[in-house]
Amino acid sequence: MQTIFWLSLFNNFLDCNTLIFMDLLEKIKAAAKTHNKRIVLPESTEERTLQAADVLIGEGIARIVLIGNKNDILQIAADKGLNNINNATFVDPLDHDKKEAYIDLMVEIRKKKGLSREEAGKLIEDPLYLATLMIKAGDADGEVAGAENATGDVLRPAFQYVKTMPGISVVSGAFIMILKDKQFGENGMLVFADCAVHPNPTDKELAEIAVMTARTTKAIAEMEPRVALLSFSTKGSAKHEMVDKVVNATKMAQEMAPEFKFDGELQADAAIIESIGRKKAPGSEIAGKANVLVFPNLETGNISYKLVQRLAGAEAVGPVLQGMAAPINDLSRGCSVDDIVNLVAITANQAAG
Ligand code: ACO
Repeated sequence: MQTIFWLSLFNNFLDCNTLIFMDLLEKIKAAAKTHNKRIVLPESTEERTLQAADVLIGEGIARIVLIGNKNDILQIAADKGLNNINNATFVDPLDHDKKEAYIDLMVEIRKKKGLSREEAGKLIEDPLYLATLMIKAGDADGEVAGAENATGDVLRPAFQYVKTMPGISVVSGAFIMILKDKQFGENGMLVFADCAVHPNPTDKELAEIAVMTARTTKAIAEMEPRVALLSFSTKGSAKHEMVDKVVNATKMAQEMAPEFKFDGELQADAAIIESIGRKKAPGSEIAGKANVLVFPNLETGNISYKLVQRLAGAEAVGPVLQGMAAPINDLSRGCSVDDIVNLVAITANQAAG
């Protein structure tokens, strides 16, 4: 209620873009509160993470599990004047009841890879590994990390122990882009993927990325997805194996998820501008109206979202990791406390979905 009051008071001073962004985040947080999920934060002594945990517990956005020594964490919280941290659940990576059970689980999952009990015993003391084992064992619903660890270090344990959801073989990362120019997408909102994870997908993997992004769009951005698979060619205007990959991926995506609408290969202008879509792809239900853009590889996806964010002044919410068997999301090391709060709320919604 307080947020709504302040929003209405400052309505005249905020631009429309900021309002849509805040509205989306408030909806996501409100939904997260109703789900009451257990989200584990392995970087618990990291200052922004602990501040975010204090807000999350205080606002009841999620139940928070902090990995680390309880006394050390509470001392940092006291030094920072954080009052809610003692309501977290604490798991000490060096000494907790489930350590042996998690080691058994690790050895079982990685037996084909030859993981020894001794190696597992070392890995389980790493908070990033422990967090994924807690999720795998059903002791937590999701994880957010990355404020102090690199993307690869956050994702590797997740790939190895939580793995992908049934029917999906690759994890990818989507961004919800909120543009100042409302003529594009759905009132200026579009979802881009993969912008964060999988460098060079095959046609089947690209189809999976398209399907997962459609699902993310519906669940998190609350839009009916109209998915364009992008290329440097529209409907055969160029011939190249890279174009063939996008054409094949589009067919596979439609077969995998007939409940959603996909079209490709489309150039970016044909995907998002109606007059060009009509000219280059007549009869297409997506051309000119796309609100989901699927890029042919990570290079194009990552470069595009950053250019749109910087050159067009768009808000970029994410990356929302998709395709994992349970939600694990990776922060940028330059993240703010608000970014962590928002990503935990998104993660709680993914866990519920
Ligand atoms: N989805 C699911 N599983 C995967 C994926 C994926 N996309 N990629 C790798 N794996 C699995 C592998 O199958 C393997 O499993 P296994 O050990 O059971 O056989 C395990 O993960 C490790 O695979 P590696 O190939 O060794 O993966 P590596 O750890 O070298 O790399 C990583 C994975 C870190 C995600 C890599 O693909 C990468 O660096 N991607 C780019 C990340 C990045 O820098 N993004 C841009 C910045 S983020 C931003 O700007 C928002």
